[in-house]
Amino acid sequence: MIRRAIPVGIGHYLPDRIVPNSHFEALVDTTDEWIRTRSGIERRHFAADGQTTSDLAVRAARAALENAGISVDDLDGIIVATSTPDLTFPSVGTMVQAELGMTRGFAFDVQAVCAGFIYALCNANAMIVSGHAERLMIIGAETFSRIMDWTDRSTCVLFGDGAGAMILEAGDGAGTSQDRGILSTDLNSDGRYRDMLYVDGGVSTTGTAGKLRMQGNPLFRQAVDKLTSTAEAALSKTGIAPGDVDWIVPHQANIRIIQGTAKKMGVPMERVIQTVQDHGNTSAASIPLALSVGAADGRIKQGDLILSEAIGGGLAWGAVVLRW
Ligand code: ACO
Repeated sequence: MIRRAIPVGIGHYLPDRIVPNSHFEALVDTTDEWIRTRSGIERRHFAADGQTTSDLAVRAARAALENAGISVDDLDGIIVATSTPDLTFPSVGTMVQAELGMTRGFAFDVQAVCAGFIYALCNANAMIVSGHAERLMIIGAETFSRIMDWTDRSTCVLFGDGAGAMILEAGDGAGTSQDRGILSTDLNSDGRYRDMLYVDGGVSTTGTAGKLRMQGNPLFRQAVDKLTSTAEAALSKTGIAPGDVDWIVPHQANIRIIQGTAKKMGVPMERVIQTVQDHGNTSAASIPLALSVGAADGRIKQGDLILSEAIGGGLAWGAVVLRW
């Protein structure tokens, strides 16, 4: 018997305001057609004025607790993946903890931009497998609309706001790839690529939050190769072939990256959960949002084998293989 970190609850929250591509035709020199064909995005949600990342995270957390049928007192900790915190500190995690009325355990944030949820899952898995925690909430929550340059057509059309939350619980496994729970993880970063995707402000530089800057085309070329190699690395640790994966639940940045990665792995698009058309790129929130949508509509079922992969600013990238 070995300890496994098993998903027991999932939930998400999207802000009420839905923004179609046509909104940007009045802002910058772009078209609905360009955005759809180059990115796959049709609409995205934006947080209301005054609605913060922790507000979205709390809503997703409540949905996940309800889905798991447990109370906040059953959690040992909360890990929030975000690059758009309410404040420089304290962490969004501790804000969520307070709002949920959780007075024990711990909470902290992980910052790995679009790869944040993968990094957070890997941390949570290590804490559960090592016996440090029995039950953890892992949240991806972002308000990227707050760091957009609304005059930059190459970025402002791509991102959205939202939050997804997953609860992982310790359970016994036989140590085989048939076990439920997280079966393997793979993390990578390479800071030499920092200029490819960054925010041009910060506490110790400008003293401001800054705006997102991205070299989309070079990043696009990095993405498919790095996502495929991290996915293959995570799968090879389990002995599972890509063709045996039930669902790829990828980071949702661009439909062409999602298609390119699935094709390289030989997995048909019918087995890929796609939400980029409805959510845009919600950075660390995109994978838990897609997992939650896939579970809620009945596609993802208990026992399914799931591969998630993501790449984002850093560059930071990684993959997780888990059985639902
Ligand atoms: N509307 C119309 N034209 C546009 C727009 C727009 N919104 N944006 C850019 N263009 C133009 C460019 O100016 C360029 O024009 P030019 O040829 O006259 O210079 C032309 O379209 C082609 O631009 P490219 O950047 O080469 O277009 P590409 O096909 O690469 O698509 C995109 C751009 C969608 C950004 C793509 O490169 C991409 O998805 N990149 C990766 C994004 C990603 O994965 N990010 C990582 C995760 S995000 C995170 O970590 C926060």
